[in-house]
Amino acid sequence: MSSSQHWIATAGGPLQGTLSIPGDKSVSHRAVMFAALADGVSRIEGFLEGEDTRATAAIFQQLGVRIETPTPSQRIVHGVGVDGLRAPTGDLDCGNAGTGMRLLAGLLAAQPFDSVLVGDESLSRRPMRRVTGPLARMGARIQTEADGTPPLRVQGGQALTGIDYELPVASAQVKSALLLAGLYATGETRIREPHPTRDYTERMLRAFGVEIDFPPGEARLAGGQRLRATDIVVPADFSSAAFFLVAASIIPGSGLRLQRVGLNPRRTGLLAALRLMGADIVEENHASQGGEPVADLVVRHAPLHGAEIPEELVPDMIDEFPALFIAAAAASSPTVVSGAAELRVKESDRLAAMSAGLRTLGLRVDETPDGATIFPGQLGAGTIESHGDHRIAMSFAVAGQLARGEVRINDIANVATSFPGFDALATGAGFGLSVRD
Ligand code: S3P
Repeated sequence: MSSSQHWIATAGGPLQGTLSIPGDKSVSHRAVMFAALADGVSRIEGFLEGEDTRATAAIFQQLGVRIETPTPSQRIVHGVGVDGLRAPTGDLDCGNAGTGMRLLAGLLAAQPFDSVLVGDESLSRRPMRRVTGPLARMGARIQTEADGTPPLRVQGGQALTGIDYELPVASAQVKSALLLAGLYATGETRIREPHPTRDYTERMLRAFGVEIDFPPGEARLAGGQRLRATDIVVPADFSSAAFFLVAASIIPGSGLRLQRVGLNPRRTGLLAALRLMGADIVEENHASQGGEPVADLVVRHAPLHGAEIPEELVPDMIDEFPALFIAAAAASSPTVVSGAAELRVKESDRLAAMSAGLRTLGLRVDETPDGATIFPGQLGAGTIESHGDHRIAMSFAVAGQLARGEVRINDIANVATSFPGFDALATGAGFGLSVRD
């Protein structure tokens, strides 16, 4: 996709139909990583064929792992065992993916060889000391740039020791990096969290035969364990479903069914927030898919009112604030977000990008260091800078459905990192959205 490509979003809807949302990004990253480290062959179904997760798969190929792609949503991974990775010849390019880079930092710190992790412009601005700091306490040697950003230069051949570490910020990525390093460390690694975060690493390591305890707010494993190959079914990504949950909630006359969406409780804070605002979302056909709860989400238009988003929901909806801002813009009273300073260090500064975008479309947004108050109103036309952030771009595609006039969204290439085919799925459901050069 050329960098001049942009979207024009115009009033659309009502949204109707049954949609299949692509596979979960967090689960897909981990599935390919753990399958690569396992003894034996693992099959992954429902793999997210996005740029972030493809970058992770390509890195493991560089590390000597054979990965087959029988169809785009499948991977067959020929695991090499925890001690079977090979030294790469070049830099390892994580693309846009913070998850890829941070988890790999933990894994590569424990290998006998050196490696260098690089990323795109956005990833190259993101803070990495939150992971290199505690890894150093385990004995790892990883160099960042002077300001703590990538590239990460990992010096292999270090003997790691388990740690007991309390995370200063709730971060599943940091927790996961330390657990991966912990697999290679002597003794036990114990991570405590200020607020429980997504536990895919813990659940999936257990599925791969690792002994790991994870009472709420904590994860503990002993070093020196091996992984046993297993098959993984990846649920549909709740974070991708979020754009359709918000869109159908705010566009009059809409009714959508989103099939078999992953409902890990550490991911579904947006459901609680939208319901607090008056949304009509029903869960049907509850099932367990690959050890994860899934259900169809049936969402119908409903008049939303504003809400004070409870701070304890923040970690459970950390990726959904861009979408929430659009729901807030369409509500009948203001919405207050607080305790969400982490949004400033995601793929973009999401508090700044969402506030600026909504102001461009004519709304008042009062930004604070860790949140914002969004004052709803009629959205107008305007040009939005997505700052290369997939979730900012998709959020404003939703906003455009209620705008008077055209909303132009620049810099949309990175939508493919998490949601390839978003525009086709959206227009099929009734969005007014076209791609222009
Ligand atoms: C992720 C964890 C979250 C989330 C990211 C994916 C993961 O980041 O924002 O999109 O897969 O572990 P943090 O753990 O840094 O909050």
